[in-house]
Amino acid sequence: MAEPQFAAVLLAAGRGTRMRSALPKVLHPIAGKPMLRHVIDAVRAAGVPALIAVVGHEAGRIRAALGPDVAFVEQKEQLGTGHALNCAREQAGGATDVLVVSGDVPLLRPETLRSLLQQHTESGATLTLLTARLERPGDLGRIVRDGGGRVRAIAEAADADVATQAIEEINAGAYCFRAAWLWPRLAFLPASAGGEYYLTALVEQAVREGAPVQTVTTDDPEEALGVNDREQLSRAEAVMRRRILRRLMLESGVTVIDPATTYVDADVQIGQDTVIEPNSAIRGSCVIGRNCVIGPGATLCNARIGDGCRIGASLIEDSELEAEVSMGPYGHIRGGARIGTGVELGDHVEIKNSRIGQGSNIHHFSYVGDAELGVNVNIGAGAVTCNYDGVAKHRTIIGDGAFIGSDTMLVAPVRIGHGAKTGAGSVVTHDVADGATVFGVPARPLRPDTETGTGPETG
Ligand code: UD1
Ligand code: CA
Repeated sequence: MAEPQFAAVLLAAGRGTRMRSALPKVLHPIAGKPMLRHVIDAVRAAGVPALIAVVGHEAGRIRAALGPDVAFVEQKEQLGTGHALNCAREQAGGATDVLVVSGDVPLLRPETLRSLLQQHTESGATLTLLTARLERPGDLGRIVRDGGGRVRAIAEAADADVATQAIEEINAGAYCFRAAWLWPRLAFLPASAGGEYYLTALVEQAVREGAPVQTVTTDDPEEALGVNDREQLSRAEAVMRRRILRRLMLESGVTVIDPATTYVDADVQIGQDTVIEPNSAIRGSCVIGRNCVIGPGATLCNARIGDGCRIGASLIEDSELEAEVSMGPYGHIRGGARIGTGVELGDHVEIKNSRIGQGSNIHHFSYVGDAELGVNVNIGAGAVTCNYDGVAKHRTIIGDGAFIGSDTMLVAPVRIGHGAKTGAGSVVTHDVADGATVFGVPARPLRPDTETGTGPETG
């Protein structure tokens, strides 16, 4: 027998009414990643590269969010899951077999989909269904079997009588079909009581024809959780979160002190022997090195953190820290910052769009924005780069080894030379030469023969 050629069709055209949201249901994020993207990644990982998403409600938004690696077909009117699948007929034309997955079952694992594909291929069935046993099957379709255990039908919960509703085995929303059997029948599905064309009616159709129907039952019922409303969304989030933390602990060698209060997004990478302290959130595309201590109370979004960093209760966004940086508590690194190796950032320090050279210190309540600091710069308490004149942003450049006294205002654009110093409370409005010392308001050079001291400093 020739190897089957699978095409995967993802159903994502529904309105998602029960979410009560302006955002299309399949774009609601779970662990920072759109629900449909989880499904796509699982199908890809299961070894089916040809993906077709059926979109309809807010189709443009879904396409834009998912990018070019998925083919899209449009279901103009949402007439049910069977009708949706039929919209993909032409696109999936060449495949011998079709894997269909609901776009709202984000917890399906690649290995489960792989066993569904394998069972379908090996048994030669016309139709193979993924099922799960749930104590509270809720609104999911029930698998109706006869006395001999053979599948007879899928009964939709809404249309089912009490006895049928009591069935614990449910349709997880993933199916394999022989294409030659599927396509001719889809156009002739009966309409449900509500006027929809149910994909699930194909099971009864196959049974009527005596075509072989197989099932694969997952041993992890959590993965059958479908997301129709926000309560189910929160449950999916909780399951996903536990999975991510388990993977980090068991595979990556990360210590998670308190999984109950640790939130890590799906695509985050964390190196060995890093410790995540309680109440920490690591979002987006963060990459964290080895031997770091993150938190308690840290929030990181799209940050790259080198080895051996210590991040106290602080917020870091869209920025990069090299190795051995210590930060916080209560620091904030906004976008576009690059912090050099060994830098120390104390409490209430805010940094934006700046490069901080290796070994520099900014210990207490300072603002550094649109600046470039050399190596071993010391910024005293309360110093501020005044980067905005009410119209435009300007840059501040500070040379290697410069010493910026407490409460210095650096009025940008301004350049402070290598090894230069500013006195406490100075307001620097002009460039300062290498090695020079300035003080006062506005700051002027110190002439050692006529003037003394620059006032007390805080280190
Ligand atoms: C469906 C199944 C149910 C199964 C459950 C698994 C049917 C009739 N029922 O129920 O047996 O247990 O999934 O989670 O299939 N969609 C379209 N176009 C449409 C309608 C829906 O693309 O016209 C998409 C939706 O966007 C969604 C998916 O199909 O991603 C499933 O639709 P939904 O309405 O959520 O079906 P359920 O009621 O959950
Ligand atoms: Ca659903």
